[in-house]
Amino acid sequence: MTQRKNSLTGVKPSGTPHIGNYLGAIQPALELSKTYKAHYFLADYHALTTMRDPAEFRHANHELAATWLACGLDPNDVVFYRQSDIPEIFELTWILACNAPKGLLNRAHAYKAAADANTEAGRLVDDGINMGLYNYPVLMAADILIADTDLVPVGQDQKQHIEITRDLAIAFNAIYGDTLVLPDGLISEEVATITGLDGRKMSKSYGNVIPLFAPPNELRKTVMRIVTDSRRPEDPKDPDQDNIYAIYKHFATPERLTEVRELYLNGGLAYGKMKAELFEVLDAYLSPMRAKYDALMADTVQIDTILAEGAVKMREIAARVIDRVRMAIGKTTVAGAEKVGGK
Ligand code: TRP
Repeated sequence: MTQRKNSLTGVKPSGTPHIGNYLGAIQPALELSKTYKAHYFLADYHALTTMRDPAEFRHANHELAATWLACGLDPNDVVFYRQSDIPEIFELTWILACNAPKGLLNRAHAYKAAADANTEAGRLVDDGINMGLYNYPVLMAADILIADTDLVPVGQDQKQHIEITRDLAIAFNAIYGDTLVLPDGLISEEVATITGLDGRKMSKSYGNVIPLFAPPNELRKTVMRIVTDSRRPEDPKDPDQDNIYAIYKHFATPERLTEVRELYLNGGLAYGKMKAELFEVLDAYLSPMRAKYDALMADTVQIDTILAEGAVKMREIAARVIDRVRMAIGKTTVAGAEKVGGK
């Protein structure tokens, strides 16, 4: 059997997940585990660039881990861990930083946007900008390179981070010889965009999301808020211009979808009934996931245990890669050196 290639998905904890996240990112990423040796991790220390409240940090990480587990991630089948449990990532971050051109990081989108905003507002260029934000791309490169990653599925907004990762790996290999594996990004197409209640892209910043794990009554209320026009049931309508249909089509059976399309086109479709049907279909689809999510969130020790087991698996992988890197840079050591001076 040939060795499977490595895929790696990193996610930053950032609030309650919605069905756009599920259909656009989580589900496609989980699909990769069928063909790749798949790694998934919580980029928890990346979140520290903006998150300062310990309770929020704790909760957001549990929420994120529970989400992936509830959506079907099988920790026995893949490697699932938390970034902060893998010290090798932070060692590699430093080594990479030592050959990262500062000018390259000056051009990284997130830093540059913050710096430009400062300049425009007449403030000092680095006003309020922390080094975590500045080094964010180097830490992300280490996340990727520590797993000998071949493929990284990401949204369009992360494309530059993959390019920087490749640049840093190429620079390292040019100095020290072939050591780090060059990853490729798998950039998700815009077609994967799921529309929200108002027909715009489903996004927290638009306030138009359907939460993944909301209780049924809240889910129903949210579905009822989908924006429609004032046409009567008997009027023909274009399903491809309709906000209910845009969400419904992802969850309905093909047979029912064909019937519903006919109703739209030929007249006979009432928005209210369509919303009720969408709620039923969504609720049936989501309720087993919601049950799993709720059970995990009610017992966060279970989540931490799963992550700790994943960290053991990941550290074996990370140890091999960091050893290769240490050898390449000429670091010598004797067995047990890390314990000298310890207990
Ligand atoms: N920066 C990514 C985001 O905001 C999260 C991330 C951190 C990541 N490290 C990664 C994604 C490594 C892929 C691989 O979405």
